[in-house]
Amino acid sequence: MDLDVAVVGLGRVGLPLALAFADRGLRTIGIDVDASRTDAVAAGRMPFFEPGADEVLARVQGRADATLEVSRDVAQAARAKHVVLTLGTPSFSHIEIDVSQIRSVLDDLLPHLREGHCLVLRSTIAPGTTEFVAGYLELHRGLVVGRDVFVAHVPERIAASRFFDEISTLPCIVGGVGERSGEEAASVFAALGAPIVQTTPVEAELAKIWTNILRYTLFALPNRLMMECEQYGANVFEVIDLINRDYPRGGMKLPGMTAGTCLRKDFTFSEERSPAPGMLLAVSRVNESVPLFLVDGLKRRLPGETLRARKVAVLGLAFKSDTDDERDSLSFKLIRLLERELALVAAHDPLSPSSTLTLEEAVSGADAVVLATNHSDWQDAATLERIAALAAPGAVLADPWDCFGQRAVFGPASELAADVADRDGHVAAQPLA
Ligand SMILES: NC(=O)c1ccc[n+]([C@@H]2O[C@H](COP(=O)([O-])OP(=O)(O)OC[C@H]3O[C@@H](n4cnc5c(N)ncnc54)[C@H](O)[C@@H]3O)[C@@H](O)[C@H]2O)c1
Repeated sequence: MDLDVAVVGLGRVGLPLALAFADRGLRTIGIDVDASRTDAVAAGRMPFFEPGADEVLARVQGRADATLEVSRDVAQAARAKHVVLTLGTPSFSHIEIDVSQIRSVLDDLLPHLREGHCLVLRSTIAPGTTEFVAGYLELHRGLVVGRDVFVAHVPERIAASRFFDEISTLPCIVGGVGERSGEEAASVFAALGAPIVQTTPVEAELAKIWTNILRYTLFALPNRLMMECEQYGANVFEVIDLINRDYPRGGMKLPGMTAGTCLRKDFTFSEERSPAPGMLLAVSRVNESVPLFLVDGLKRRLPGETLRARKVAVLGLAFKSDTDDERDSLSFKLIRLLERELALVAAHDPLSPSSTLTLEEAVSGADAVVLATNHSDWQDAATLERIAALAAPGAVLADPWDCFGQRAVFGPASELAADVADRDGHVAAQPLA
């Protein structure tokens, strides 16, 4: 074995991880079947935006000892002692983990596995998947896991766009199968510098999915409250302030468009064989209802209570702030729902690869503007003033995030802009990209 570590799947998780290993001097190979990913890396280009990654890629490729290579051939992974799988694990729509990417790579690797190999599952997986993988190797190759080869789950808990801030500090959970798998897996992750916490495979699996279930549920509560406030004519931001203010047991989060590839599906890995089915589905239904809530709220506030032939600007296509990742973003559901009301949708996102309009083009003459993503660059009074100036007179703003501090989910854009300017002092409108 001439390499230290192979990372199979150069996506949002795998590529930064491969870069981090190579940057610490580990002889690393990154493998992906998608040529656009491997070609980009080989050409010294990041295929997506991750803060700090361009610099690390340039540094790694500039090293005299060339610690990173890339390939599309999964069999090449067997050149490394540690093989880390960072493949996608989507959920089928009927609530069941889809492990087909993992199985496909296992089948490609099976003939090449030798004694001493350590296979690490970094992907998010349903409870029991690590033991399934260990059993698969034993069944098809007759290798004893924990003695001949090693299998562990070392879940990725870093949020996209924070990778290089968190990789050396966030506790690294290691759940190894059998006696020695945990130690073997820890020996490669130790290079990243974060504290290692040893546990069992199923506890590692549960810790990861429940990290995300906790967040998904915590965000569903203010989203549900937002809908209830609309029902009673109450202001959700006032109510949240009343809940949290000087209260030692408070902590209600703010509403928003809660989704993304992880939160939107990781709960299904618990739900697929839940002893109390339904609770997490309800959490999902609340978060998934926010786009419809916004569409209905806008409709009620527009003359004639219709969106038909109204121009609606949707600002933000990414699933969360300050990323170009559009996967599983609720913005697209929002756009589809608006289009089903016969609205004329114009979308803009400064970071999105699929956004073609400028903010000015999207907002000019709009009857309604929805802040679908809370990008940091938008969070100021000047942006709200600019939106109010560009949109049609009487245009309605919908912003569940309270991006501008206007403390209203819905309202006439010009009135909200004037209120914010009065409160914060006038801020000169800046030209926006
Ligand atoms: N994106 C996140 O922020 C995040 C955070 C924590 C955990 N996770 C988990 O990490 C895992 C990966 O997520 P991601 O966002 O990086 O996914 P991704 O889809 O961006 O990356 C997966 C990569 O695997 C490649 N691939 C698929 N089949 C392959 C095969 N047979 N051989 C080689 N390569 C193959 C794909 O081409 C793709 O580039 C998932 O389980 C996800 O739930 C993601």
